[in-house]
Amino acid sequence: MLSLPALLNERFESVTGVDPELRPATKPQFGHFQSNVALRLAKAEGRPPREVAQRIVDEVDVADLCEPLEIAGPGFINIRLRNEVLAQVVTGILTDPSGVIEQADHPQRVVIDYSAPNVAKPMHVGNLRSTIIGDCFARVLRAQGHTVIAQNHIGDWGTQFGMLVEQIICEGINADDLDLASSVALYRRAQEHFRSDEQFADAARRRVVALQGGDEQTLAIWRSLIEVSKVGFNTAYARLGVLLTDDDLAGESLYNDMLAGVAADLAASGIAVVDDGALVVFVPGDDAPLIVRKTDGGFGYAATDLAAVRYRFDELHAQRIIYVVGSPQAHHFSQVFAVARMAGWVPVDGVLEHVGFGSVLGPDGKMFKTRDGKTVTLDTLLDLAEEVAAPEIAMAAVKYADLSTSLHKDYVFDAERMTATTGNTGPYLQYAHARVSGILRKAEAEGWLPTAVTVLDEPAEQTLALLLSRFGEVVAEVSVSLQPHKLCTYLFDTATALSSFYEQCPVLKSEGEVRTSRLAICAATRTVLGKGLDLLGIVAPDRM
Ligand code: ARG
Repeated sequence: MLSLPALLNERFESVTGVDPELRPATKPQFGHFQSNVALRLAKAEGRPPREVAQRIVDEVDVADLCEPLEIAGPGFINIRLRNEVLAQVVTGILTDPSGVIEQADHPQRVVIDYSAPNVAKPMHVGNLRSTIIGDCFARVLRAQGHTVIAQNHIGDWGTQFGMLVEQIICEGINADDLDLASSVALYRRAQEHFRSDEQFADAARRRVVALQGGDEQTLAIWRSLIEVSKVGFNTAYARLGVLLTDDDLAGESLYNDMLAGVAADLAASGIAVVDDGALVVFVPGDDAPLIVRKTDGGFGYAATDLAAVRYRFDELHAQRIIYVVGSPQAHHFSQVFAVARMAGWVPVDGVLEHVGFGSVLGPDGKMFKTRDGKTVTLDTLLDLAEEVAAPEIAMAAVKYADLSTSLHKDYVFDAERMTATTGNTGPYLQYAHARVSGILRKAEAEGWLPTAVTVLDEPAEQTLALLLSRFGEVVAEVSVSLQPHKLCTYLFDTATALSSFYEQCPVLKSEGEVRTSRLAICAATRTVLGKGLDLLGIVAPDRM
């Protein structure tokens, strides 16, 4: 079913011929929506705006949805939905909770590339934000009936493994005994060793060749290193409560065998050329070339991503690929996408999107580092939030802070503000959900069952009902724009409207039909808040 605003839009447009640009009314006395379409048309037609408005009002057929339309001021059209229409929509949320999220007309196969931490390195804030944001996209798109294929492009390949394996052999340790923290420490020792010892550096380089050549002993140690990191990543995912599993792992090493083919095909078609011994592509309008194969014959990050694009369209049959990776990699992806298009690997209707995001800043407004200058891991962030709130609340606070500001912006990590149960925070929404659950629990204990919304006389009831009717539309918007903060803002507005509703419309203390109807509004609000929080990956508690 079309949402109410979409339905109204359609009816108006069939008369005006242009988008009526319905806006939520700025004051309750202006109704629910306003349009200035008459003013725009009047200009074009050279007629008085109020006359044009009158003509539209006479012709548009919305009597089944709205109170008689009103013309205001210079020619604005004020639209007020009929109470029973709004009541019906909200009742619909109760009778068919699964219907609140509109199903996509054309379900797609969507690859989402997110999280992507690196083996033997701690998960950095970028991986963390990517994990939280990507998880939200996966939830939103799945809820709309799309097939989401999560691809966790972990950094499990590259020359650093020569050094790591060599260090393990050198120290005579058993790689299986490591954990993520001790392999990170091993990484540091290996780097130091590489810098200070020429002989070790040579051995490490030979080890890279052995790894690429498929030497069994080398591969076995490499595999152990990955296992160890996987355990560490999974611990982080469990703590975060994200949907990623081992089935979603598709790391850089997966593409190793495809790299030579990628280079050969790009060279054969003349897209890639040899420049200073390296195989590169000059992307029109871009000064820096994309390096497919380095002078030493090795392949890097870009070649791997090119192979991945081709694999995802050809083998995974993706129709849309979303990369959730920090903004500093914007240029990398613009090059990879351009080359993939030049090579004809992107189907005509195939979509490639890079969703970048900003950094997490410390209280001083600089890149967030721990007191001893280390990178901030998930554990550090959560520990800071857990100093001031319970674990479930701390998690909601961290995730919501990540999702509620426009993604490209940096934001300051302020544990006190993020965990507050007032203001635009995750815990505030959790609290709103818990409070409405409590009211319903009381009513249900007295034998009340949700039935229908029948009374919507108070402005606070109407405001809340109107918001509830928009949920499906907001979710649909997020799946296109990939801007989770719009869902956050919507949920915050809904929670705020719920609290004004409590203030102005007693629920448990009212009687008869008003009581039943208000309880039904509460139940519908609970559904919307619960589903909305779930789409953000945030637990919606019944008690708090
Ligand atoms: N491992 C990379 C990093 O930590 C992110 C990889 C993102 N995905 C990709 N297909 N390049 O920065």
